[in-house]
Amino acid sequence: MEIQVFDSYEEMSINAARLVAAQVRLKPDSVLGLATGSTPLGLYAELIRMYEEENLDFSEVVTLNLDEYLGLGPDDDQSYAYFMREKLFSKINIDPDSSYLPDGLAEDPEDAAQEYEMLADMLPRDLQILGIGRNGHIGFNEPADAFPVETHVTDLAESTIQANQRFFDNADQVPRQAITMGMKQILAAKKIILLASGADKAETISDLVFGKVTSQVPASILNLHPDVMVMLDEAAARYLVEAYGFDDEDIAGE
Ligand code: PGA
Repeated sequence: MEIQVFDSYEEMSINAARLVAAQVRLKPDSVLGLATGSTPLGLYAELIRMYEEENLDFSEVVTLNLDEYLGLGPDDDQSYAYFMREKLFSKINIDPDSSYLPDGLAEDPEDAAQEYEMLADMLPRDLQILGIGRNGHIGFNEPADAFPVETHVTDLAESTIQANQRFFDNADQVPRQAITMGMKQILAAKKIILLASGADKAETISDLVFGKVTSQVPASILNLHPDVMVMLDEAAARYLVEAYGFDDEDIAGE
């Protein structure tokens, strides 16, 4: 895995956007795997700017998101479908019919998960964007005794409910379940970019880089993928910077 450290969240986001833009310009019908959460917001804002100012064309791009809360539909402002529409899709020229998320309102969520797995099989990602939870999750693949393989219905970890309550009025409102891609689909992507920013991710990033591959740190499975770029701001890279003894000149963007 390749690691890049930037002096700020903005620099990290702009550089991640450049990689996504290069992917889309080289292959206009790229399939992108997308993520929600605070972390990719800067990346999405920069992609919108590139669409507006630099003719970045998304008309042929197809996207699949990692996950969706169970019980929330696309009109619910806490759903990930709503998030993606507000933060990216409605502001670029992507075809709304080419942007997929799991169905949070499915009558039979297990069936919906299986259908999403089949869809993902048909649309292998050229590039997958990932955030990482403070507990090391990617998508909603929470720490567990084994790595979840296929798209599945999952209970959110208590730590995830606590982390995500900042988006809701209180923790009681955070959905307890989600449909998430499993590790098979995440690892099927040709290239993966994992983004992390802020001091509260530093320990998890240290586990990811220095720890063993374990389902207790779900992101650690990325060590088995041949093309992963980990893009960090200085705060998230804190323990790496200490361990490797980088000085400021080594930090991109200085
Ligand atoms: P965050 O979430 O970007 O809001 O920190 C990341 C995640 O939980 O995967």
